[in-house]
Amino acid sequence: MLASQPGKLRVLLSRQQVQGRVAALAADISRDYRDKRPLLVGVLKGSFVFLADLLRRLTTPVTIDFVRLGSYGLGTMTSGKVELLLDVATPVKGRHVLVVEDIVDSGLSLSYLLGHLRRGEPASVKVCALLDKPARRQSRFAGLAIDYLGFTVPDAFVVGYGLDFAEDYRYLPDIYLLEP
Ligand code: IMP
Repeated sequence: MLASQPGKLRVLLSRQQVQGRVAALAADISRDYRDKRPLLVGVLKGSFVFLADLLRRLTTPVTIDFVRLGSYGLGTMTSGKVELLLDVATPVKGRHVLVVEDIVDSGLSLSYLLGHLRRGEPASVKVCALLDKPARRQSRFAGLAIDYLGFTVPDAFVVGYGLDFAEDYRYLPDIYLLEP
């Protein structure tokens, strides 16, 4: 528990667990993308901490860009629609694109983003997600593939390590369950 938020947060994944998994993902990505100079597309805002750690552990050159999607507003429930608030500035045509997500929940955001990126005719598009919450996946997105996954998490709201609730908690270095 944190002193400033008594009774609300419980550690789900410690910073050591997270860092260990990030190192393993970076090793896999470095091996698979050697000599391909992939374009890593971070999904703002939640993935920026994960992307920054992942990036510094890669041993093959990459370039970085960002998108920002809107769907959650300021609560824990999705509004059911996605809008592109910021698009990549880099042309994706012919590039090996790796989407870097914080968490896949219903699958709506990721599905929307993959459709959007594919219209730009990249050489390939794959997904790296720190967290997956498969219990919440909408059946129409059951086929969504996460090529590089950090952890599977239970059907609960998680915060910290870039993930927020109403813009709070992003700064925490561990990942916490936010208890109602
Ligand atoms: P989806 O479109 O329902 O898959 O939602 C994906 C996005 O919702 C993520 O990129 C997060 O921004 C947000 N999200 C979903 N679950 C959580 C959570 O447990 N904590 C924080 N953000 C979440």
